[in-house]
Amino acid sequence: MKKIGVFSVLVLLSLVDVYGQDLIQTNSSKRIRDNFDFNWQFHKGDIAIKKIVKAGGQGGITDVNVKVVTARDTIINYMDAGSYKIFYPADWKQVNLPHDWAVEGTFVHDNSMGNQPAVSGYLPTGTGFYRKEFEIPETDKGKKISIEFDGIFRNSTVWVNGHLMGNHLSGYTPSNYDLTDVLRYGNEGKNVILVKADASEYEGWWYEGAGIYRHVWLIKTNRLHVHRFGTYITTPQVSDAEAAVSISTTLKNEYRETKKITLVSKIVNSNGVVIDTKIASDSLPAYSQMEIAQKGQIKNPLLWSPETPNLYKVLTEVVDNSNIVDTYETTFGVRTIDVNKNGVFLNGKLYPVKGTCNHQDFAGIGVALPDKINWYKLKLLKEVGSNAYRCSHHLPTPELLNMCDSMGLLVLDENRFLSSSEEGIKDLTTMLYRDRNHPCIFMWSMENEEWIQGTVQGTRILETMVATTHKIDPTRKATAAMNHGRNDGGYSDVLDVVGYNYGDKQLAYVKDKEKYPERVLFCTESTSFISTRGEYANNWEKAYVSNLSKWEPGWGPFPGEDWADIVKYPYLGGTFVWTSFDYRGEPTPYQWPSVTSHFGFMDICGFPKDGYYAYKAAWTNTPVVHIFPHWNWPGKEGDSIQVHCYSNCEEIELLLNGKSIGKQKAVPYTKLIWKLIYKPGKLEARGYKKGKVVTTGIVETTTAPAQINLNSDTYKLKADGCDVAVIRVAIKDGKGRVVPTADNLVKFSIEGPGTIIGTGNGNPGSHEPDKASQRKAFNGYCLVLVQSQKEAGEIRLKAVSEDLKETQITITAGY
Ligand code: GAL
Repeated sequence: MKKIGVFSVLVLLSLVDVYGQDLIQTNSSKRIRDNFDFNWQFHKGDIAIKKIVKAGGQGGITDVNVKVVTARDTIINYMDAGSYKIFYPADWKQVNLPHDWAVEGTFVHDNSMGNQPAVSGYLPTGTGFYRKEFEIPETDKGKKISIEFDGIFRNSTVWVNGHLMGNHLSGYTPSNYDLTDVLRYGNEGKNVILVKADASEYEGWWYEGAGIYRHVWLIKTNRLHVHRFGTYITTPQVSDAEAAVSISTTLKNEYRETKKITLVSKIVNSNGVVIDTKIASDSLPAYSQMEIAQKGQIKNPLLWSPETPNLYKVLTEVVDNSNIVDTYETTFGVRTIDVNKNGVFLNGKLYPVKGTCNHQDFAGIGVALPDKINWYKLKLLKEVGSNAYRCSHHLPTPELLNMCDSMGLLVLDENRFLSSSEEGIKDLTTMLYRDRNHPCIFMWSMENEEWIQGTVQGTRILETMVATTHKIDPTRKATAAMNHGRNDGGYSDVLDVVGYNYGDKQLAYVKDKEKYPERVLFCTESTSFISTRGEYANNWEKAYVSNLSKWEPGWGPFPGEDWADIVKYPYLGGTFVWTSFDYRGEPTPYQWPSVTSHFGFMDICGFPKDGYYAYKAAWTNTPVVHIFPHWNWPGKEGDSIQVHCYSNCEEIELLLNGKSIGKQKAVPYTKLIWKLIYKPGKLEARGYKKGKVVTTGIVETTTAPAQINLNSDTYKLKADGCDVAVIRVAIKDGKGRVVPTADNLVKFSIEGPGTIIGTGNGNPGSHEPDKASQRKAFNGYCLVLVQSQKEAGEIRLKAVSEDLKETQITITAGY
């Protein structure tokens, strides 16, 4: 690391004056980061690119304004010496990103289809192409221009104006290409980018989607600029009175001459007030980069935690010859984190991690999540009382980490593969460089349950990865998520923290702690309870799993029970429940017709299952009494029935039609069960604390479906073509009670500047298309997602269904 010498400090002091007198000018070459998501064209299927196209002697490929000349999919033909032309397939369709073509497909029950049809949800993947035409003004000549893909699933190849820019295998790490030299500026012509994504191979055992499913950015900077992921902010000393801030900035000079540079780093609080400014000067040779270290401070820092997600920023200015030529913003937080043999300590206090494991997808949209949907999912997690998010089993989209910073959720950021190959280390280091400034990240996970865990080779690979991680981010510990039994052979010894998946089995983690008292343990994964929302019997034909009993798989406890271990053995640090939401693929315990998993305590739409309340009871102080099943059992009058209850009250009293059936003392984190004789009517559970009723839970026999209810999470959208309203659709009886068995088909129509981008209902056996304007309700509910367009106005969504009273809502797009 480059240190600033005494001489530099003197120079700096004089520059403070200069700076104070505002002599440094801002010029037009400041960094621009443009969203590049709109107006792409998409072609599903392969296109035979016969040659690796290079720039031809006549200036390369000209592929604008050419016609389709063949019916074949061939796009590149040799035309004449030194130049190529691209002929498009006729079926390019207009798309905006993020885009996942797999979720647009039809479910196929064909085990010979592609790879792992069941685990990826029986949706075909294959290969697809994207292209986009764009113009770059003459005035951008001389700048550095690059493109950043936050994530393409997967094996992507990029050409710009016919020049092969490169190939990127990972479906989860970002890729970046420097386009400066191959672009056409001003009158030189239009630019064309072509992206191939080959999703026919898989990286995991869950639905992974297909296509450019995260954002794309076009980045323009001066030739003297902050390097990609070029800042690293840490707070090596934190006290109530003061936090020391260590700022490391990597600058890149891509001019042909040496540059005398001044680096200004301003620490800014959440009100935008500059609270410290550090200035350094140096000289940076042509085509080279340099890391500059600066030290700042914050008086009386506001600490970051999930409960108080206070953030600061470092604003970086690169000054060349009195001009600010580049600006860069890094968000950071002030907090201490220690995962040690006694547990997880945040800001010096034991902080039990109430976490969930999460795959990326959501109803209606596959893995192509508008930011709003990531925000919505996190909001639901906060509501259940969770304070932590595990990105299983790969790094997430960067916006999600920004949200975890600002909404307050700790993150276990996970690398995809156990690999120390060049490619493997590149993926790992990309995650570390991209993400290490986020205060939300409390630990790095090297991998999850790879088969060579615990082997000699696995151990060597892991050791290299851990060492690499320590070098790039010495402030956080490294773990790996392991099935118990795979952690021997020295594998655990090279980790800072030994991650236990399902360590509750015969209390494996507790036994290990007795054996290795110095071991730092963490519960990386638990539960895997399977259930289908609103179902109370297993049904192989329809692929439903009852919420009442524990059947499969054999490796996890009932919802909430995992938390009892964390309370009893705080050294376990916390847990990450498998999973918060159902996800496509991995349909354990069934195969076809099941197309989604059953592991979530919410379904794929975010509707709570019964297990949700076990966690709400365990993780919040809000009094919870949740009884199930529902109370619509025609024909079962006089039969015996079990009533189950999740609660955090001390005692629960059950009343059927006003008559007490008795009280039970609650055992924390354990389900209560009553047996009674079924009679329609109203079943009520009263939750007592200190002898007083603090809350009640009710299930009631309803009459037939009579009306539709639409409930949007917002009635105002930004008219930006990105924002989304999440609309919960409920089928209710004449008295406004949700009918828990209703499966009416609801048809949606929309007027105004909004688009239905997907539907869902949480039924793991549903083969209805998600990309449609109708959906059957499943056990009373379905979901519709409405996205704004780039136009302000009133969006009216109407819902109709045979024999039901129709309804409509209005959402205003504009602010
Ligand atoms: C774990 C694994 C997860 C998921 C889960 C299902 O062992 O890490 O990815 O497969 O099992 O129970």
